[in-house]
Amino acid sequence: MTKNKSKKVSIVMGSQSDFKTMIFCQKVLKSLNIKFETKIISAHRTPDRMYKYAMNAEKNDISVIIAGAGGSAHLPGMISALTSLPVLGVPIESKKLQGLDSLLSIAQMPRGIPVGTLAIGEDGAINAALLAASIIGINDVIVKKKLNQWRIKQSKTVKKKPR
Ligand code: RP5
Repeated sequence: MTKNKSKKVSIVMGSQSDFKTMIFCQKVLKSLNIKFETKIISAHRTPDRMYKYAMNAEKNDISVIIAGAGGSAHLPGMISALTSLPVLGVPIESKKLQGLDSLLSIAQMPRGIPVGTLAIGEDGAINAALLAASIIGINDVIVKKKLNQWRIKQSKTVKKKPR
């Protein structure tokens, strides 16, 4: 295993309003000392930005993309169509359907272009960061160790008896 110094996780989201959810991704990546960038990219409002971003992702030393989107959440799928890097999708809780629309849009990708879909909202954002760490940990022994320490710490917070 080697340490992949220059690679980073890229967190993208469809709107500023998604940041209150996606900030949890940042928090976990920070706690694991994983390099990341954060951007707002909308598949429908800024399609050119999305295209350029996805086409240049590999060249820009991105290892894993985490894309959060709400409503008719096509951002993760569209990015995955443009790059073969792993794309993890976080369904954002929408106002009208509480994120069920986002979840189904992201999870129900037709065969050929995958998006690894996480849970709706904050849990999904946290798990996306942890899953990104697992992927990076395949080739990065330091990240793997950090992730395992994080999990041990989590286990220690679970009490043996209810109070
Ligand atoms: C999606 O539309 C975004 O990902 C966001 O979750 C949703 C609502 O966006 P705003 O109207 O808050 O900008 O594109």
